[in-house]
Amino acid sequence: MAASFYFFMFMHLIICCFQLITATPNNFSFMQPLCHAEESSALLQFKQAFSFNKSASSDPLAYWKLRSWKFKVGGGSDCCSWDGVECDQSTGHVVDLDLSSSFLFGSIKSSSSLFSLVHLRRLNLADNHFNYSQIPSEISHLLLLTTLNLSLSVFSGPIPVEISRLSKLISLDLSLNSGPLRLEKPGLQSLLQNLTSLEEIHLGQVNLTSKLILPNISSLKTISLSDCGLYGTFPTSIFHLPKLRVLNLRYNYLLTGPLPEFQHTSSLQKLILASTNFSGELPNTIGNLSFLDTLDLSDCKFSGSIPASLNRTQLTVLNLESNNFSGQILSLASLSRLRDLKLSYNEFDVGSLFWLWNLTSLTTLYLNGIDLQGSVLSCPANKIQHATIGLSTNTTLLNFNRLQFDSCNLGEFPYFLSFQNQLEELSLINNRIHGKIPAWMLNISKDTLGILRLQGNYLTGFEQQPIILPWAKLSLLDLSYNKLQGRLPIPPTSILAYYASDNAIIGKLSPLICTLSSLYILNLSNNNLTGLIPPCLSNFSDSLSVLDLGGNNFYGPIPQAYNKGNSLELIGFSQNRLSGKLPKSLANCTVLKILDISDNLIEDAFPFWLGTLTQLEALNLHSNKFYGAIRSPRTKFEFSKLHIIVLSHNGFSGDLPTKYIRSWNAMKSIGKQETNQAIPSKEFQLLPGIWWEHDFFYSMTITNKGVDRQYIKTLDIFIGIDLSSNKFEGGIPKSLGDLKALQLLNLSNNELSGGIPSFLGDLSNLEALDLAQNKLSGEIPQQLTQLTFLAFFNVSHNNLVGHVPKGHQFNTFQNNSYEGNSGLCGEPLSRHCGELDAPSPTLSPQPVDSEGSKDSTFPSGADWIVIFMGFGSGTTIGFAIGQMLTSKYHEWFLETFARKKNNQRRERKRKL
Ligand SMILES: *[C@@H]1O[C@H](CO)[C@@H](O)[C@H](O)[C@H]1NC(C)=O
Ligand SMILES: *[C@@H]1O[C@H](CO)[C@@H](O)[C@H](O)[C@H]1NC(C)=O
Ligand SMILES: *[C@@H]1O[C@H](CO)[C@@H](O)[C@H](O)[C@H]1NC(C)=O
Ligand SMILES: *[C@@H]1O[C@H](CO)[C@@H](O)[C@H](O)[C@H]1NC(C)=O
Ligand SMILES: *[C@@H]1O[C@H](CO)[C@@H](O)[C@H](O)[C@H]1NC(C)=O
Ligand SMILES: *[C@@H]1O[C@H](CO)[C@@H](O)[C@H](O)[C@H]1NC(C)=O
Ligand SMILES: *[C@@H]1O[C@H](CO)[C@@H](O)[C@H](O)[C@H]1NC(C)=O
Ligand SMILES: *[C@@H]1O[C@H](CO)[C@@H](O)[C@H](O)[C@H]1NC(C)=O
Repeated sequence: MAASFYFFMFMHLIICCFQLITATPNNFSFMQPLCHAEESSALLQFKQAFSFNKSASSDPLAYWKLRSWKFKVGGGSDCCSWDGVECDQSTGHVVDLDLSSSFLFGSIKSSSSLFSLVHLRRLNLADNHFNYSQIPSEISHLLLLTTLNLSLSVFSGPIPVEISRLSKLISLDLSLNSGPLRLEKPGLQSLLQNLTSLEEIHLGQVNLTSKLILPNISSLKTISLSDCGLYGTFPTSIFHLPKLRVLNLRYNYLLTGPLPEFQHTSSLQKLILASTNFSGELPNTIGNLSFLDTLDLSDCKFSGSIPASLNRTQLTVLNLESNNFSGQILSLASLSRLRDLKLSYNEFDVGSLFWLWNLTSLTTLYLNGIDLQGSVLSCPANKIQHATIGLSTNTTLLNFNRLQFDSCNLGEFPYFLSFQNQLEELSLINNRIHGKIPAWMLNISKDTLGILRLQGNYLTGFEQQPIILPWAKLSLLDLSYNKLQGRLPIPPTSILAYYASDNAIIGKLSPLICTLSSLYILNLSNNNLTGLIPPCLSNFSDSLSVLDLGGNNFYGPIPQAYNKGNSLELIGFSQNRLSGKLPKSLANCTVLKILDISDNLIEDAFPFWLGTLTQLEALNLHSNKFYGAIRSPRTKFEFSKLHIIVLSHNGFSGDLPTKYIRSWNAMKSIGKQETNQAIPSKEFQLLPGIWWEHDFFYSMTITNKGVDRQYIKTLDIFIGIDLSSNKFEGGIPKSLGDLKALQLLNLSNNELSGGIPSFLGDLSNLEALDLAQNKLSGEIPQQLTQLTFLAFFNVSHNNLVGHVPKGHQFNTFQNNSYEGNSGLCGEPLSRHCGELDAPSPTLSPQPVDSEGSKDSTFPSGADWIVIFMGFGSGTTIGFAIGQMLTSKYHEWFLETFARKKNNQRRERKRKL
């Protein structure tokens, strides 16, 4: 019985399928003409010109569309059926070519067969890699084009003026070509003049570098000109284009203008002026924009209050961050569709914010820099009063995705967080949150939270610390600059960047840390961690770029096994009690830029085998037990990218490493540094759409003391050599005179002899020169007075004779720069010149500042602190003197430099 039933069903299915097949409209394709032979061969020729390259497209759905493009022996190769090709139903001509995101790599030549496809109406080559080729002017042969999309495709050079002949164009997209593309005179006006049907124009990141003049094309619906270098006043008439829906002018920092009075007839839906120089108040007539759904005015110069009329718009996205807006914001309460609300860094009087709970679509809320004390958002768990803040049981609670409350004066974790089960990002940086992280915090958004930033608070630990933190998708965790005691919290294996520096974390480092094999950044510096560094830490993650364990109490050997092909760019082990030798496998760290082993107990000879690391910019071995002579390098190119070498306070002996100095090419000219910045980017995605620039912030203290003025230079590349406090002997080598970019040279406290060479006066960037406590003799060369940046100079405790140089910077040095040289005379010393005779110790001037001069000859003063900022585009090294690095300073640095750069880069990835 059952069997026959199934048989019946089976037959039934077959019949149905058969009917489906016969009825399919595919039959029509048999009636369609085959594609024209010459077009088919033009396409095949086009295919020949490119190679398949997986890094040519960034869309995750990209694939090699040209796979199906094949010539069939015996004819019949119907190009109309090929991937990305569409033909006209009646003529059979190719009218649509969509090769976007197809992994195409190669140059397009002006002879390309593509330009013979003159029936094309739509051409999309976006998201490929055209290898910096120019857009050939032959593109203008495709006179029927209505759509041309060449965005995100690595074209460069001038946009051909011939595009102006494509008078049927409706949509033109040349944006995001990293080449970059540029538009030369006579500019946009003439390029677009004849394109009278144009509805969409996208020129993001095309270099226009001009004032904006647009022809009056009344069909325009979308104008996207982000990051084009536009300046001057924005023409108001553009706001009034009758069909305009989208206006995006983001990142034209010098573009100015007020907002106009808006008319009822406006179709504007998206108005994006972020990071421009627009200013003034929002006009009341903004309420006339009854279709407006996105208003992004962040990072401009707007002021005044928010007009109540805004409630007549359809806003879902409102971003007013970083302006000077003031007044109340209660009028936002009736924007019931708001999904994204960003008000950070203004002068708003936000009041109690109880109305926020009425915005039932709200998922993103950024209120950084706004005092939230006394608002509904600051209510801590133990003071919750349902009646007064509208959190009654029948209130629908908002479920946020992204929350940023940085610098909001919050004293505790806000209670409403405990209801959040869809958070992806939570940022509470620089508040006053103290005590333990409550147990309920570990229950929120367990399945969704990707970014958690709690740095700069007063957190001491966890009410209940789990072995592994519970957020299964956590990719960034920042707990740095708190007061965390107890064991290091271990994030889940999803983590990409983990910062827990500057706390009071104790105990051994759990080997569980080595399960985090996706990590890019691990910064545990400045805690009280102890024990051995787990050996697995040298090879647990191929992606790890930054490993900073400095300022702890680790002892024992440095982890030994660095895999070939690892990604380490920074290794910071300074200020621990590590002993033994430097592991030779460090030579496998071929992309290493910074190696800081300072202040440990490493006992080894000079690690000449690191000389092969072609990216190494800074090597700091300060205060260890290194010993022996530094022999000659094996090749001329060792350490050729080195900017900073610090070997001070060790037992090195023999001559100064003359031949090495000759190979330190990076120190020879400033100009050469800039070319170093083209290191490929290493970004990683924290959440869909959120890219994290692989940035790090690293400071290195250089022992040179004595500069007492506050001195911050953040954007400079710092170039310095510190070989002080060793047993180097012999003369100062001539090769030092080639290091023209040198800013700091410290050879103090060695056994150097001979004279001070006059070529030091050619090191025109020198800011600090320390030769104290050697056996140098002869006179101080007058040429040193040419050093106009010299802020610190010390030759004390040598055997120098003759006149102290006068003029320029030398008028500012005190006698402690010269003391202990009984043969020196003249200002500022009390010994007058002209007195002949052998110097006698009693004639030496009394030290003015005897404090702190026990260990070295210097008065105690500020340290040199070298700051490293790494970006995808390369390391930037700045330095500060006499400036302690606080979290505030860190923030300031990021604020002024990193953020803008980050935003720009992020924008490059995303479509605007
Ligand atoms: C693939 O393209 C990248 C640029 O995106 C290039 O650097 C690389 O050399 C190309 N690889 C091949 C095999 O052509
Ligand atoms: C890419 O451009 C470079 C420089 O012009 C050239 O040497 C190389 O052959 C080009 N590669 C391809 C695949 O076209
Ligand atoms: C151009 O193509 C890219 C990639 O496919 C796409 O993201 C973009 O929206 C297209 N531009 C226009 C104006 O449609
Ligand atoms: C625009 O079209 C007119 C008439 O066809 C022509 O004379 C003029 O040269 C064109 N301008 C540009 C910039 O192509
Ligand atoms: C732009 O053109 C439209 C229609 O073609 C016209 O009504 C309008 O006055 C023009 N605007 C300007 C500023 O010339
Ligand atoms: C908008 O706000 C004004 C002034 O507060 C008010 O009179 C009006 O009713 C509000 N309109 C809407 C649609 O909420
Ligand atoms: C919020 O919603 C409640 C209930 O729907 C309403 O009574 C109240 O007036 C609303 N508040 C604001 C400020 O719109
Ligand atoms: C790390 O190195 C150790 C010692 O060479 C080796 O036993 C281990 O398998 C390596 N682990 C990884 C993940 O490469």
